[in-house]
Amino acid sequence: MSLTAAPRTRRHLFSLADMSAEDLLYLLDTAESFAEVGRREVKKVPTLRGKTVVNLFMESSTRTRTSFEIAEKRLSAEVVNFSASGSSVEKGETLKDTMLTLNAMGPDIVVLRHKYAGSPQFVSRYTSASIINAGDGAREHPTQGLLDLFTIRRRFGRIAGLRVAIVGDIAHSRVVRSALFGLRTLGAEVVLCGPPTMLPHDSAGLGVQTTSRLEQAIDGADVVMMLRVQFERQREQLFPNRHEYFRRYGLTAERLRHAKPEAIVMHPGPMNRGVEISSEVADGPRSVITDQVEAGVAARMAVLFWVSGGAETEA
Ligand code: NCD
Repeated sequence: MSLTAAPRTRRHLFSLADMSAEDLLYLLDTAESFAEVGRREVKKVPTLRGKTVVNLFMESSTRTRTSFEIAEKRLSAEVVNFSASGSSVEKGETLKDTMLTLNAMGPDIVVLRHKYAGSPQFVSRYTSASIINAGDGAREHPTQGLLDLFTIRRRFGRIAGLRVAIVGDIAHSRVVRSALFGLRTLGAEVVLCGPPTMLPHDSAGLGVQTTSRLEQAIDGADVVMMLRVQFERQREQLFPNRHEYFRRYGLTAERLRHAKPEAIVMHPGPMNRGVEISSEVADGPRSVITDQVEAGVAARMAVLFWVSGGAETEA
């Protein structure tokens, strides 16, 4: 590397809202080549050798944190995990101070999960590292959106023109926002479905159809994406009880017949079986839920590569 080279501008992944179709497709293609690494005997490439990645998870997570950690290790990065419990955060440290402290240790990439929307942009002001958003409150979860796009494209060979029904607790879901932005940019038709109390107030502004009738939403769908009821984010009782929710909005094999015969069923996990989805469907032949988990590692490898300047060095 030349010492006179201008420092590259840092790249972050905050959201899928402002990402172009070109960048999305680049990330999906990159994920496709990284997926192959996961099928090798030795699942490792030297791409991020010598780079330090900090996983800063201030909100509970098992699958996303594990998925990032595996992705980082497959790229040969040095990985440091930092979680809120058992840390100085419990002693009252602010997010700004946590970030300033971590920054002094010189990480190259910080993967952040936090309960506040906008926290990735906020912490980026206090570090020279690239920030990857691993879920900020109810706003976005861009790597989940990417792995969803990846899973859909793998199955159908395209995204444009597909009909995607997203069902459940739309209003509280960061997963739906990222998926929706990505799907729209790549030309899918999206319909959002949930009880009126769980539909966003600004659905007209989102530019998609909304309905409270499940059969109508999944009618002719290629993809049925079920969402977890986010009990922890609801400040009031939004439906009578779990049994009633399942009766109206739970995905059963019977209801799935309204979708196209080759339709796939997705769920970001963790699932509430018997609330938003029956076990018969979750474990059934149309379910791609474990494919999504597998895609997560490849999608995150692609993002880690991309924020560290991958596209530029490749070009
Ligand atoms: C999602 C999340 O945390 O936003 N889960 C995940 O990342 N796999 C969805 C959820 O919690 O329902």
